[in-house]
Amino acid sequence: TFFSMLRSLQWILLQCFIEWPSVYRPGLIKLPDNFCTFKPLSSAEAEEERLILESIAWPETPPLPAPFSLNQTSHAAHSTFTILPGGVGDERHVGDQLEVMIKMYDFQGNPKKSGGDAIVTRLHNRALEAGVAGRVVDHLNGSYSAVFSLLWEGSVTLVHSSEAITVLRRLNREEPDRTILKSLFHSGSISETTICNICLRQTNQPQCNYTDLRTGDPWFCYKPKKLSCDDRMNHMNGGMRIKLKANEANLFKSLGSGKSGLSGYYYQGVWRPLGGTKVYQFNNSSAISQCLKGKVVHMYGDSTVRQWFEYLDASLPGKINRNNPKKSGPFMIWDNAKNILVKFHLHGPPLSVSIHIPTSELRYIANEIDDVVGGTNTVVIFGIWAHLTPFPMQFYIRRLYGIRRAVIRLLNRAPDTLVVIRTPNLRGTNPYIFTFNDWYAIQQDKVVRAVFKGLNVQLVDAWEMVLAHHLPHYIHPPPPIIKNMVNIILSHMCPQ
Ligand SMILES: *[C@@H]1O[C@H](CO)[C@@H](O)[C@H](O)[C@H]1NC(C)=O
Ligand SMILES: *[C@@H]1O[C@H](CO)[C@@H](O)[C@H](O)[C@H]1NC(C)=O
Ligand SMILES: *[C@@H]1O[C@H](CO)[C@@H](O)[C@H](O)[C@H]1NC(C)=O
Ligand SMILES: *[C@@H]1O[C@H](CO)[C@@H](O)[C@H](O)[C@H]1NC(C)=O
Ligand SMILES: *[C@@H]1O[C@H](CO)[C@@H](O)[C@H](O)[C@H]1NC(C)=O
Repeated sequence: TFFSMLRSLQWILLQCFIEWPSVYRPGLIKLPDNFCTFKPLSSAEAEEERLILESIAWPETPPLPAPFSLNQTSHAAHSTFTILPGGVGDERHVGDQLEVMIKMYDFQGNPKKSGGDAIVTRLHNRALEAGVAGRVVDHLNGSYSAVFSLLWEGSVTLVHSSEAITVLRRLNREEPDRTILKSLFHSGSISETTICNICLRQTNQPQCNYTDLRTGDPWFCYKPKKLSCDDRMNHMNGGMRIKLKANEANLFKSLGSGKSGLSGYYYQGVWRPLGGTKVYQFNNSSAISQCLKGKVVHMYGDSTVRQWFEYLDASLPGKINRNNPKKSGPFMIWDNAKNILVKFHLHGPPLSVSIHIPTSELRYIANEIDDVVGGTNTVVIFGIWAHLTPFPMQFYIRRLYGIRRAVIRLLNRAPDTLVVIRTPNLRGTNPYIFTFNDWYAIQQDKVVRAVFKGLNVQLVDAWEMVLAHHLPHYIHPPPPIIKNMVNIILSHMCPQ
């Protein structure tokens, strides 16, 4: 019975509404207000995509004020929360439901009348190293409820006002090419660099089509003037080009201090899932290598999956490594004595990484999974999200569909294969907020869950594990969270 009082509520307003009409014409699909086209889906997948987009649809967000002023935009400092009656007297017990009413106000202290601010909440207790995420309900009238299953001190963070979301929504629709991605082309003594993306604006410059023939994942570069499309050497990041309208940036300066059903909570620093898997603690190298004995572990994805590889790498004494010195990998470690093999490979483009990735290392997860034999001693782990946030959601859904088809084929030929999927996580404030932010990730999180629902796969709920933890939100969760995540994977591998 250790509920004292919710002290601070920070707000995370992650809010969004995607207005893709459900019009699917034959031939290439053109997105509204967008120069991207996509190959059409089968009617079953198109219907599923429609339902997924519907499930992540958020209320309309307010148009930008004209003349520009923050006055009527959501403001954390003025907003309030009230704990609704419940429990016996003032005493609350672990396991009780706690409901909090959150009321949004603007900069001038007037109540907000419309909803659309997405808010995430957590309760935590530092002394007990305890924390849990809350579920938020938008009443569409400026107030929100947050429901918690367990009771510790609370904290909620404002990341973006609903007005700021209006800007983020516009950027993904109109400027999916604001991350500048490039390739170097080279042959003999000639080198040229051109811009690449999932879709390119039509210009006089012809385009090279690198769409993957197996997965259908689109990828294009402007054709170099002197060289051929076959002369592509690598994939590079060329920074960002963010075209903001007047004052839009101001909406991102007003940060405050600070989903689906709950999947677990922290207690004494250890993540405890609610229902399902029992998580064991693999406290030292011998426990970890004992579990990995005889296994082949394939990891695919972005740097957030690479963190798991790095954790295992650091935990296995006496292993041999064949790790590329570059952060982009690929990486491989093995232990002859224990017959352990662990590999990591980065997912295919788009990748906003500072390292030049050779064309030969650009691999789509779906194709990699197709090359895995599978079986009882095989573990396939993947996570893909962080580099895909600046693009239309249809692109992300289709990428996941391709991976799902590969997972289904894998589980069909080798049903005993363990498949583990990492969900996206909060990344907090960062310098690239117009491209990489929590508002995009919160939608991706729902999409990943929806696409892989019902398959014999295990999710590592990075979303809740990062949200519920007292450490600040960061794209790369800090070591205590990584340890908890890897323990979940090892618990699936070695259920004791
Ligand atoms: C915003 O509020 C301030 C202080 O109340 C006021 O001086 C200013 O005129 C307002 N700006 C707009 C555009 O309404
Ligand atoms: C908003 O809606 C909720 C749920 O219907 C209600 O409890 C609350 O009183 C309403 N708030 C206002 C300010 O109308
Ligand atoms: C690119 O290539 C793919 C695969 O061959 C093809 O399906 C698609 O229509 C091409 N896209 C364009 C815009 O030419
Ligand atoms: C692992 O360590 C934690 C805390 O250090 C301890 O509570 C737990 O019992 C240990 N687990 C095992 C299996 O030794
Ligand atoms: C490692 O942890 C296991 C169980 O968690 C324990 O039984 C064993 O004694 C530990 N070994 C070392 C060397 O600490």
